[in-house]
Amino acid sequence: MSAKGNDFGAIYGGKNYDFFATLLGFGHSFYEKAASEMPLEKGMKVLDLGCGTASLDLEIEEKMEHTGKVFGIDLSNNQLNYAHSKIKEMSDEITLYKGTMDELPFKDMVFDMVVTSVAFCETNAEVRRSAIKEASRVLASSGHFVLIDCTRPRVSLTSVMMLPFFMFKTNEDNWNNVYVEICSENSMKLERETYLKPYIRCQIFKKEN
Ligand SMILES: C[S@@+](CC[C@H](N)C(=O)[O-])C[C@H]1O[C@@H](n2cnc3c(N)ncnc32)[C@H](O)[C@@H]1O
Repeated sequence: MSAKGNDFGAIYGGKNYDFFATLLGFGHSFYEKAASEMPLEKGMKVLDLGCGTASLDLEIEEKMEHTGKVFGIDLSNNQLNYAHSKIKEMSDEITLYKGTMDELPFKDMVFDMVVTSVAFCETNAEVRRSAIKEASRVLASSGHFVLIDCTRPRVSLTSVMMLPFFMFKTNEDNWNNVYVEICSENSMKLERETYLKPYIRCQIFKKEN
Protein backbone atom coordinates (compact mmCIF):
# COMPACT_ATOMS: atom_id res chain seq x y z
CA MET A 1 0.00 0.00 0.00
CA SER A 2 1.50 3.33 -1.06
CA ALA A 3 0.56 6.62 0.66
CA LYS A 4 -1.39 7.48 -2.50
CA GLY A 5 -3.45 4.29 -2.65
CA ASN A 6 -3.57 0.53 -2.92
CA ASP A 7 -0.92 -0.38 -5.47
CA PHE A 8 -1.90 -4.00 -6.10
CA GLY A 9 1.22 -6.01 -5.27
CA ALA A 10 2.19 -9.48 -6.48
CA ILE A 11 -0.81 -11.35 -5.05
CA TYR A 12 -3.61 -9.09 -6.30
CA GLY A 13 -1.88 -7.37 -9.22
CA GLY A 14 -1.30 -8.12 -12.89
CA LYS A 15 -2.59 -11.42 -14.26
CA ASN A 16 -4.07 -12.32 -10.86
CA TYR A 17 -6.00 -9.04 -10.85
CA ASP A 18 -7.73 -9.95 -14.10
CA PHE A 19 -8.50 -13.43 -12.77
CA PHE A 20 -10.03 -12.19 -9.50
CA ALA A 21 -11.79 -9.24 -11.19
CA THR A 22 -13.46 -11.60 -13.68
CA LEU A 23 -14.58 -13.84 -10.80
CA LEU A 24 -16.15 -10.78 -9.13
CA GLY A 25 -18.00 -9.80 -12.30
CA PHE A 26 -15.48 -7.32 -13.72
CA GLY A 27 -14.66 -9.21 -16.89
CA HIS A 28 -14.91 -8.29 -20.55
CA SER A 29 -18.67 -7.55 -20.54
CA PHE A 30 -18.28 -5.08 -17.66
CA TYR A 31 -15.68 -3.02 -19.55
CA GLU A 32 -17.68 -3.27 -22.77
CA LYS A 33 -20.74 -1.90 -20.96
CA ALA A 34 -18.66 0.84 -19.28
CA ALA A 35 -17.23 2.00 -22.63
CA SER A 36 -20.67 1.92 -24.24
CA GLU A 37 -21.93 4.46 -21.66
CA MET A 38 -19.16 6.93 -22.52
CA PRO A 39 -19.77 9.73 -25.02
CA LEU A 40 -16.81 8.56 -27.11
CA GLU A 41 -16.18 9.74 -30.66
CA LYS A 42 -13.60 8.79 -33.23
CA GLY A 43 -10.18 10.37 -32.81
CA MET A 44 -10.58 11.41 -29.18
CA LYS A 45 -7.73 11.71 -26.70
CA VAL A 46 -8.73 9.92 -23.48
CA LEU A 47 -6.98 9.62 -20.09
CA ASP A 48 -7.70 6.73 -17.65
CA LEU A 49 -6.86 7.37 -13.97
CA GLY A 50 -5.87 4.14 -12.16
CA CYS A 51 -5.92 2.18 -15.44
CA GLY A 52 -4.86 -1.12 -13.81
CA THR A 53 -4.34 -3.81 -16.44
CA ALA A 54 -5.78 -1.58 -19.22
CA SER A 55 -8.95 -3.66 -19.81
CA LEU A 56 -11.06 -0.51 -20.08
CA ASP A 57 -8.50 1.21 -22.31
CA LEU A 58 -8.72 -1.66 -24.83
CA GLU A 59 -12.53 -1.31 -24.91
CA ILE A 60 -12.33 2.47 -25.31
CA GLU A 61 -10.03 2.07 -28.31
CA GLU A 62 -12.37 -0.58 -29.74
CA LYS A 63 -15.31 1.80 -29.41
CA MET A 64 -13.34 4.58 -31.13
CA GLU A 65 -12.63 2.06 -33.92
CA HIS A 66 -8.89 2.35 -33.24
CA THR A 67 -8.77 6.00 -34.29
CA GLY A 68 -8.09 7.64 -30.92
CA LYS A 69 -5.33 7.81 -28.33
CA VAL A 70 -5.73 6.47 -24.80
CA PHE A 71 -3.35 7.30 -21.97
CA GLY A 72 -3.43 5.32 -18.74
CA ILE A 73 -1.79 6.17 -15.43
CA ASP A 74 -1.38 3.79 -12.48
CA LEU A 75 0.67 3.47 -9.30
CA SER A 76 1.36 -0.23 -9.62
CA ASN A 77 4.31 -1.85 -11.41
CA ASN A 78 2.52 -5.21 -11.35
CA GLN A 79 -0.60 -3.81 -13.00
CA LEU A 80 1.38 -1.84 -15.59
CA ASN A 81 3.71 -4.72 -16.49
CA TYR A 82 0.76 -6.98 -17.24
CA ALA A 83 -1.09 -4.15 -18.99
CA HIS A 84 1.88 -3.72 -21.34
CA SER A 85 1.65 -7.38 -22.34
CA LYS A 86 -2.08 -6.93 -23.12
CA ILE A 87 -1.72 -3.79 -25.24
CA LYS A 88 1.35 -4.98 -27.20
CA GLU A 89 -0.37 -4.86 -30.58
CA MET A 90 -1.90 -1.47 -29.81
CA SER A 91 1.09 0.34 -28.36
CA ASP A 92 0.68 3.22 -30.82
CA GLU A 93 -2.92 3.69 -29.60
CA ILE A 94 -2.46 3.18 -25.85
CA THR A 95 0.33 4.72 -23.75
CA LEU A 96 0.80 3.85 -20.09
CA TYR A 97 2.46 5.89 -17.37
CA LYS A 98 3.50 5.04 -13.84
CA GLY A 99 2.29 7.75 -11.50
CA THR A 100 -0.46 8.96 -9.24
CA MET A 101 -3.79 10.35 -10.38
CA ASP A 102 -3.50 13.47 -8.22
CA GLU A 103 -0.27 14.68 -9.90
CA LEU A 104 -0.78 14.29 -13.63
CA PRO A 105 2.21 14.72 -15.96
CA PHE A 106 0.12 16.46 -18.65
CA LYS A 107 -0.44 20.03 -19.81
CA ASP A 108 -3.72 21.90 -19.25
CA MET A 109 -6.80 21.14 -21.42
CA VAL A 110 -5.26 18.43 -23.60
CA PHE A 111 -7.83 15.59 -23.20
CA ASP A 112 -11.33 15.18 -24.64
CA MET A 113 -12.25 12.75 -21.88
CA VAL A 114 -10.89 11.65 -18.50
CA VAL A 115 -12.22 8.37 -17.08
CA THR A 116 -11.64 6.39 -13.92
CA SER A 117 -13.00 2.93 -13.14
CA VAL A 118 -13.10 1.41 -9.64
CA ALA A 119 -9.90 3.24 -8.73
CA PHE A 120 -11.19 6.09 -6.52
CA CYS A 121 -12.16 3.45 -3.92
CA GLU A 122 -8.49 2.39 -3.78
CA THR A 123 -7.24 5.86 -2.76
CA ASN A 124 -7.91 8.27 0.10
CA ALA A 125 -10.15 11.34 0.29
CA GLU A 126 -7.30 13.79 -0.22
CA VAL A 127 -6.07 12.01 -3.37
CA ARG A 128 -9.62 11.78 -4.74
CA ARG A 129 -10.19 15.54 -4.35
CA SER A 130 -6.85 16.41 -5.97
CA ALA A 131 -7.51 13.89 -8.76
CA ILE A 132 -10.82 15.63 -9.59
CA LYS A 133 -9.02 18.97 -9.66
CA GLU A 134 -6.37 17.48 -11.96
CA ALA A 135 -9.02 15.87 -14.20
CA SER A 136 -10.64 19.27 -14.68
CA ARG A 137 -7.28 20.92 -15.37
CA VAL A 138 -6.27 18.49 -18.14
CA LEU A 139 -9.77 18.36 -19.72
CA ALA A 140 -10.49 20.52 -22.75
CA SER A 141 -13.49 22.81 -22.61
CA SER A 142 -16.74 20.76 -22.98
CA GLY A 143 -14.75 17.57 -22.34
CA HIS A 144 -16.21 14.78 -20.18
CA PHE A 145 -15.12 13.25 -16.90
CA VAL A 146 -16.49 9.72 -16.41
CA LEU A 147 -16.39 8.50 -12.81
CA ILE A 148 -17.13 4.81 -12.27
CA ASP A 149 -16.93 3.56 -8.70
CA CYS A 150 -18.50 1.49 -5.94
CA THR A 151 -21.50 3.17 -4.40
CA ARG A 152 -24.36 2.79 -1.95
CA PRO A 153 -25.88 -0.42 -3.36
CA ARG A 154 -29.32 -0.66 -4.81
CA VAL A 155 -31.16 -3.56 -3.20
CA SER A 156 -30.59 -6.73 -5.21
CA LEU A 157 -29.37 -10.28 -4.74
CA THR A 158 -25.93 -9.47 -6.18
CA SER A 159 -25.60 -6.51 -3.77
CA VAL A 160 -26.21 -8.84 -0.84
CA MET A 161 -23.65 -11.32 -2.22
CA MET A 162 -21.11 -8.50 -2.61
CA LEU A 163 -21.59 -7.23 0.96
CA PRO A 164 -18.12 -8.34 2.18
CA PHE A 165 -16.58 -6.48 -0.77
CA PHE A 166 -18.41 -3.25 0.19
CA MET A 167 -17.13 -3.49 3.73
CA PHE A 168 -13.64 -2.97 2.36
CA LYS A 169 -14.23 -0.89 -0.71
CA THR A 170 -16.88 1.71 -0.01
CA ASN A 171 -15.97 4.94 1.63
CA GLU A 172 -17.86 7.94 2.91
CA ASP A 173 -17.35 9.88 -0.35
CA ASN A 174 -18.87 7.19 -2.54
CA TRP A 175 -21.61 6.37 -0.07
CA ASN A 176 -22.73 9.99 0.23
CA ASN A 177 -22.23 10.84 -3.45
CA VAL A 178 -20.10 13.91 -2.73
CA TYR A 179 -18.64 13.96 -6.23
CA VAL A 180 -21.44 16.01 -7.78
CA GLU A 181 -20.54 18.89 -5.47
CA ILE A 182 -16.76 18.47 -5.72
CA CYS A 183 -16.90 18.27 -9.53
CA SER A 184 -19.15 21.32 -9.64
CA GLU A 185 -16.57 23.26 -7.59
CA ASN A 186 -14.11 22.25 -10.32
CA SER A 187 -16.26 23.45 -13.25
CA MET A 188 -17.68 20.01 -14.10
CA LYS A 189 -21.45 19.58 -14.05
CA LEU A 190 -23.24 16.23 -13.79
CA GLU A 191 -24.79 15.43 -17.17
CA ARG A 192 -26.00 11.87 -16.64
CA GLU A 193 -25.68 8.95 -14.26
CA THR A 194 -26.37 5.27 -14.59
CA TYR A 195 -25.58 2.00 -12.80
CA LEU A 196 -23.32 -0.60 -14.43
CA LYS A 197 -24.15 -2.95 -11.56
CA PRO A 198 -26.42 -2.39 -8.55
CA TYR A 199 -23.32 -1.30 -6.61
CA ILE A 200 -21.29 0.37 -9.38
CA ARG A 201 -22.34 3.85 -10.46
CA CYS A 202 -21.19 5.62 -13.61
CA GLN A 203 -21.41 9.43 -13.46
CA ILE A 204 -20.73 11.54 -16.53
CA PHE A 205 -19.69 15.16 -15.93
CA LYS A 206 -19.16 17.87 -18.53
CA LYS A 207 -16.50 20.55 -18.17
CA GLU A 208 -18.03 23.98 -18.50
CA ASN A 209 -15.13 26.17 -19.56
C1 LIG B 1 -9.48 -1.98 -8.60
S1 LIG B 1 -8.18 -1.51 -9.67
C2 LIG B 1 -9.09 -0.95 -11.12
C3 LIG B 1 -8.25 -0.98 -12.34
C4 LIG B 1 -8.96 -0.54 -13.63
N1 LIG B 1 -9.36 0.83 -13.59
C5 LIG B 1 -10.13 -1.43 -13.91
O1 LIG B 1 -11.28 -0.95 -13.94
O2 LIG B 1 -9.90 -2.63 -14.15
C6 LIG B 1 -7.63 0.02 -8.98
C7 LIG B 1 -6.34 0.53 -9.60
O3 LIG B 1 -6.08 1.83 -9.10
C8 LIG B 1 -4.66 1.97 -8.94
N2 LIG B 1 -4.42 3.09 -8.02
C9 LIG B 1 -4.67 3.17 -6.70
N3 LIG B 1 -4.34 4.40 -6.23
C10 LIG B 1 -3.88 5.11 -7.31
C11 LIG B 1 -3.39 6.44 -7.49
N4 LIG B 1 -3.30 7.30 -6.45
N5 LIG B 1 -3.02 6.83 -8.73
C12 LIG B 1 -3.08 5.96 -9.78
N6 LIG B 1 -3.52 4.70 -9.67
C13 LIG B 1 -3.93 4.28 -8.45
C14 LIG B 1 -4.21 0.60 -8.45
O4 LIG B 1 -2.84 0.37 -8.65
C15 LIG B 1 -5.11 -0.31 -9.29
O5 LIG B 1 -4.49 -0.70 -10.49
